[in-house]
Amino acid sequence: MKKKTPSSSSLFQPLSARHVFWVGRRLVIALSISLCLFALLRIQFSYPSSQSDFISHSYLSFPSSSSSSSSSSSSSSSPFTPRRSRISHTHFEGPPKVAFLFLARRNLPLDFLWGCFFENADVGNFSVYVHSEPGFVFDESTTRSAFFYNRQLTNSIKVGWGEVSMIQAERLLLEAALEDPANQRFVLLSDSCVPLHNFSYIYSYLMASPRSFVDSFLDLDKKEGDPDKKEGRYTPKMSPVIPKNLWRKGSQWISLVRSHAEVVVDDEVIFPVFKKFCKRRPPIDASKETKNIVKLQKQHNCIPDEHYVQTLFAMNDLDGELEKRTVTYSLWNESSSNMEKGWHPMTFSYANAGPQQIKEIKGINFVHYENEHRTEWCSNNSTRVPCFLFARKFSRGGAVRLLGDGVVGPFDASVLSDTAP
Ligand SMILES: *[C@@H]1O[C@H](CO)[C@@H](O)[C@H](O)[C@H]1NC(C)=O
Ligand SMILES: *[C@@H]1O[C@H](CO)[C@@H](O)[C@H](O)[C@H]1NC(C)=O
Ligand SMILES: *[C@@H]1O[C@H](CO)[C@@H](O)[C@H](O)[C@H]1NC(C)=O
Ligand SMILES: *[C@@H]1O[C@H](CO)[C@@H](O)[C@H](O)[C@H]1NC(C)=O
Ligand SMILES: *[C@@H]1O[C@H](CO)[C@@H](O)[C@H](O)[C@H]1NC(C)=O
Repeated sequence: MKKKTPSSSSLFQPLSARHVFWVGRRLVIALSISLCLFALLRIQFSYPSSQSDFISHSYLSFPSSSSSSSSSSSSSSSPFTPRRSRISHTHFEGPPKVAFLFLARRNLPLDFLWGCFFENADVGNFSVYVHSEPGFVFDESTTRSAFFYNRQLTNSIKVGWGEVSMIQAERLLLEAALEDPANQRFVLLSDSCVPLHNFSYIYSYLMASPRSFVDSFLDLDKKEGDPDKKEGRYTPKMSPVIPKNLWRKGSQWISLVRSHAEVVVDDEVIFPVFKKFCKRRPPIDASKETKNIVKLQKQHNCIPDEHYVQTLFAMNDLDGELEKRTVTYSLWNESSSNMEKGWHPMTFSYANAGPQQIKEIKGINFVHYENEHRTEWCSNNSTRVPCFLFARKFSRGGAVRLLGDGVVGPFDASVLSDTAP
């Protein structure tokens, strides 16, 4: 999985040389911060007019336009899930766009990195949507990149982590983005996600594939390893609407093609079942003894965001139209000595987001699914490619380091922070 690569020799020279190297880097960063402040001023004075087109399109009023047809009649292609009829806008001018959908708790701490990433794009090739806490405003006072101004949904909801409101927020983001017919790819991102490549690489990678990238696998009980012993995430109460054999699990961080985004937004069958039966387990107190943790773990908690889209697509017989993997890397700490920790990905800080670590992540070209004895060689429509375009979770320090190392493009940084590494 990890290809060994010759390391940059400077990392292995005596301490004094390394010290000089780091001091040099600090200087470069300091210099770029001042450049960025200048650039930020420039942006603030030039964007309001030049970007007005980009910002003013109609999704701000979307709740009334396409979402309210409640006709239950449908000419569905699926035996399981009748869908709402949708008026498809198919015609659009200009290039197809990638819609970047940010699911934020509040602000976007890595906005400066994304700002740089978008600086290296063509404005006509992408769009940005943000779901955040209701009432939170992305403007000069909260946000360091103009690409996020006026991009948040006006109909955001309060999201409880691990609750069904999380998938509702995802659906709202997709619905808003579907309003623009030029949006042809839809990438869901968290507030701790970073891009691992420049814009044009990510754009061509996503556009080259007519498939969605959705991590999806059978949700088996790891310990039993017995295909008939499904884990407690599925509850028989979901039957017959959701049959047990179509219950799936996978990463929340998906990238969809337009027709699949429509399937998610139009779903009126599976979502209500999740809403009814996916309740949140009380949080585990890690300081309690292991016996209690195991007991609590067994209590029902279906983690909707890791099952909903996967199960919905399996039920719509769409698995054949997917690359069954995620394009967003996470490093899970599987340490069994601390279960609560094992459920969360590691955070990349300044110290562990260096060129060698990033190179290793970018070099990964297959994923192995133990449960299914399946190895997924990564491809974009049958051309073998590296697996990952994005990664999480990154701290500000980690993102500063990526920026400094030119991961998202030329380092003529346009936006930066008061962030110290
Ligand atoms: C983007 O990255 C690719 C591959 O790393 C590189 O070949 C290309 O020149 C870069 N494009 C821009 C515009 O920087
Ligand atoms: C923008 O889209 C056009 C058309 O798809 C493509 O040729 C061009 O390379 C894209 N630009 C970037 C920076 O990806
Ligand atoms: C994706 O596949 C196409 C061929 O279908 C290839 O030309 C392109 O370079 C690939 N994109 C990336 C980013 O590897
Ligand atoms: C994907 O690959 C198939 C066959 O390899 C080709 O016919 C199709 O045009 C490709 N799609 C895109 C979007 O490149
Ligand atoms: C995973 O977590 C354990 C316990 O918290 C820690 O000791 C270990 O260093 C972590 N693993 C990695 C790869 O950081």
